[in-house]
Amino acid sequence: MKMRRLGRTDLCISAVGLGGWPFGGGYDWGPVDAAQAEKAVLAALDAGINLVDTAPVYGESEAFLGRILKGRRNQIILATKCGLAKNGSWTDHDLSPQTIRRQLDESLARLQTDYIDLYQIHYPDPKVPLEEALLELARQKQAGKIRHIGLCNVTAEEMSRAARIAEISSVQNEYSLLHPQKGEAVFKACRETGASFISYGTLCGGILSGKYKTAPNLRRADARNYFYKCYRADAFLKAQETSNRIKKLAEYLRVFPAAAAVAWALSNQTVSCALTGARTAEQILQNAAGADVTLTPQDLAFLEGRPCTCTK
Ligand SMILES: NC(=O)c1ccc[n+]([C@@H]2O[C@H](COP(=O)([O-])OP(=O)(O)OC[C@H]3O[C@@H](n4cnc5c(N)ncnc54)[C@H](OP(=O)(O)O)[C@@H]3O)[C@@H](O)[C@H]2O)c1
Repeated sequence: MKMRRLGRTDLCISAVGLGGWPFGGGYDWGPVDAAQAEKAVLAALDAGINLVDTAPVYGESEAFLGRILKGRRNQIILATKCGLAKNGSWTDHDLSPQTIRRQLDESLARLQTDYIDLYQIHYPDPKVPLEEALLELARQKQAGKIRHIGLCNVTAEEMSRAARIAEISSVQNEYSLLHPQKGEAVFKACRETGASFISYGTLCGGILSGKYKTAPNLRRADARNYFYKCYRADAFLKAQETSNRIKKLAEYLRVFPAAAAVAWALSNQTVSCALTGARTAEQILQNAAGADVTLTPQDLAFLEGRPCTCTK
C-alpha cells in the first residue's frame, strides 16, 4: 500500500482509506452483517490500509469500530468528526464549543481510545463562526485528546480562514468521477496550506464499482437516495455511462472497476487518500488495489468522456 504524509504531521496515511459510514446500520445504508463487516476491517488492515474514518452520526459505526480496533489501536490512524447530530430524520448542525467537547468525549468512549488522530469538522455550521469551533479544537489538541485537526465539506475560502486559527492537516470533500470538484480552488488551498486532500464518496456510494445493471431498489430512507444524487432516476442513466466507461477500461487493464475508479481519484496529485466504504473483505481488497493502478493521460481522458489531446 502506498503511504502519504498526513498534512505537515509526522503521521503516514494509506493512499486508500476505509470509510466507516456503511458500518452504521440503521436506515442509512440498510442492515449490516457484523461478521462480514469485521472481516472487511481486518482485510483492510492486512492490505496496509491504516486510515479508518467514521463519525458520531454514522449510527453504530464508532461503537462497532471501537470493538474491532481494540488491541490494534497503534496500527491505525483513527479519524472521526464533530458538528452533526441526528434529530429524528433531520441532521442538525452544531459546532458550539460545548457540543464539540461533549461529542469528542462520547466518540472517545465509543471508540474505546483516549485520543483521536484526526478530528474533523463534519460541516461548517452557519450559526457558529468557524474560528470559534477551531479555537475549541485547538484547546482539545492542547489537552491531548486529539492529535490533528481536519475539515470536511469546505470551500477554499473557509480553508484559508481556518488555517489562520489552527494547523489544518486535511480536507475531506466529495470527489469522484461523478462528482469532480468545481474548479481548482480547494486543491490549490490544500497545496498552499500543506493540508492533505482526502476524497469521500470515491465510488459514489457504490455506483462506480460498475455493479449495477439497473438502478438499485433502495429503501426511501437509505442515505444513498438523498446523499449521492447519482442514485436518483434522472441522474442514474448518466452515472451508468461513466460506470460503463470504467468497466471497459478496467477490463482492458485487467483490474477491478472499483480499483480503476479509486485510481482516477488518486491520479490527482493533490489527493493524498481515497476513502471508500465497504461491506465485505472482497470489496475493500478490490478498492485497495486501486492504489497500485497507474492511469495514462489517455485512460483519464477516456474515463472522463473527453477527447484525448495527447500527441502520441
Ligand atoms: N465528510 C463527509 O461529509 C462524508 C460524507 C460521506 C462519506 N464520508 C466518508 O467517506 C467514506 C466513503 O464514502 P461512502 O462510504 O459514503 O461511499 P463509497 O465509498 O463511494 O461507497 C461505499 C459503498 O459502495 C459499495 N462498494 C464499495 N466497494 C465496492 C466494490 N468493490 N464492489 C461493489 N460495491 C462496492 C458498498 O455498498 P453496498 O455493498 O451496499 O453496495 C460500500 O458500502 C464513508 O464511509 C465515510 O467514512 C464522509
